[in-house]
Amino acid sequence: MKKRNIVVANWKMNPEMLDIAKEIFNNTRLTAKSLKNTDVCLCPPFPFLHPLLKLNYPKNMFLGVQNISSEIKGAFTGEVSAYMVKSLGASFSIIGHSERRAMGESNEMIRKKMQTAFDADLTPILCVGEKERDKDGNHLEFIKNQIKESLFGLQKKYLVGITIAYEPIWAIGKSYLDAMSPTDIHETVLFIKKIIGELFGRDIALGSKILYGASVEAENVSEIVRIGNVDGFLVGHASLVPKQFSAILKATDMKR
Ligand code: PGA
Repeated sequence: MKKRNIVVANWKMNPEMLDIAKEIFNNTRLTAKSLKNTDVCLCPPFPFLHPLLKLNYPKNMFLGVQNISSEIKGAFTGEVSAYMVKSLGASFSIIGHSERRAMGESNEMIRKKMQTAFDADLTPILCVGEKERDKDGNHLEFIKNQIKESLFGLQKKYLVGITIAYEPIWAIGKSYLDAMSPTDIHETVLFIKKIIGELFGRDIALGSKILYGASVEAENVSEIVRIGNVDGFLVGHASLVPKQFSAILKATDMKR
């Protein structure tokens, strides 16, 4: 079956108020409706999830969350479970974002979150990416290890269609001028597919979706679509700016 593109919006801890969230949502909805080959997933902060899910949105638009607990329920103050967000109607969860890893999430914990997401029938978007690149290719080993440990022991049936967002940490939250070059993105995407193939077999690799994230903006998105070999994007700051995000969605939709 033909793979659809997916663009995931990571709003992080933004915007400050529900009204603004609704405005961004509505603007995104208008563009989403016009797309043919692309799904859109908005990941707002938890408090905005329910009010946004009550609004109308097209079939190719979904809501997700930026994180879930590795536990199912119980005495875990401040945590939110996969089942809770699923019961509201969320479809996706970002897992292992570098900003969460920086707060102490290990690959082991991320693996547990992946399992929890699968159990709750929430589609996980696993984030991987190196802090820095070096000539010797140590960053590739780092990425490989992240993938291996985060997916270790998960049943193969869950890995069909697995979505991995490659986000080089050194390029996150900057401008398109500081993003990774489309050629380097292409190489890394191939590398990630190769690793998945080695670990889980060719079919899982072929069916996987690899997204790029880190300073994707209206200015660089088309080049990355053309050269980068990606199945979509994970977009941070530009997803909060309707004009920028709309351009990113339309450019992604050119890939069929
Ligand atoms: P950015 O963030 O688009 O602002 O670089 C991407 C991310 O952290 O997911």
